[in-house]
Amino acid sequence: MSSDLRLGVNIDHVATIRNARGGGHPDPVRAARAAAQAGADSIVAHLREDRRHIGDNDLIRLMEALDLPLTLEMAATDEMLDIALRHCPETVCIVPEKREERTTEGGLDVAAGHNHLTRFVEALSSSRVIVSMFIEPDPRQLDASRSIGAPAVELHTGAYCEAVIAGDDRLADQELARITEASRYGAEIGLEIHAGHGLTFDTVGPVAAIAEIVELNIGHFLIGEAIFGGLESAIIRMRSLMDKARADAAGSASA
Ligand code: PXP
Repeated sequence: MSSDLRLGVNIDHVATIRNARGGGHPDPVRAARAAAQAGADSIVAHLREDRRHIGDNDLIRLMEALDLPLTLEMAATDEMLDIALRHCPETVCIVPEKREERTTEGGLDVAAGHNHLTRFVEALSSSRVIVSMFIEPDPRQLDASRSIGAPAVELHTGAYCEAVIAGDDRLADQELARITEASRYGAEIGLEIHAGHGLTFDTVGPVAAIAEIVELNIGHFLIGEAIFGGLESAIIRMRSLMDKARADAAGSASA
């Protein structure tokens, strides 16, 4: 795919549906292959402490089956670090994890967890795994991520997406401005900028238009849309909305 904005497709919720019944259907590896066919640039999977969606065996099968790079989302625990170092996916995105949450609710507090997190960045980086910190679009968190040596961050877009869904235009504009400013500042201090969480066909455009963002990671909405029109068609439409927003923004910047 010849876009300067990559799309990572998160296949966790294929496993959620499979796990509702046990057995092997639907298979997240088959979903990953379909995502690759449809133009995904990477596959994303979150191995949670409680294994509520992706399991250890899924990770092994994904690593074996995939031609695309895998991003493993994980909490900063010793168990997860051992697993990541055993498999060495292309990227590890470190996320906060609370057992009772339904999804990753906020960004990682890198500024407060500095001492604890440095060890994870060092161990993964020395095994040539790219480390990304999932953070709120906040300059303090960007500075802290930079200072512990993480090469990349993923900015949490959840608050922006929720404001759009709630129809609160003022808040949506404010949240989008935070993401835009954080993207610019992060790129300026040398971080690679990714973004994601809660993105849909309606919210992806303004985020994709931010020139400093090089990767969007999208899961729940795509898997939900797949029920109505198929996974490949959902991904193709998402890609085309991303690419159009990016091209329109580049056109208006150069006009
Ligand atoms: N990025 C991170 C770090 C996440 O934890 C998640 C959710 O697993 C996503 C992106 C994707 O969010 P969504 O499933 O809402 O698209």
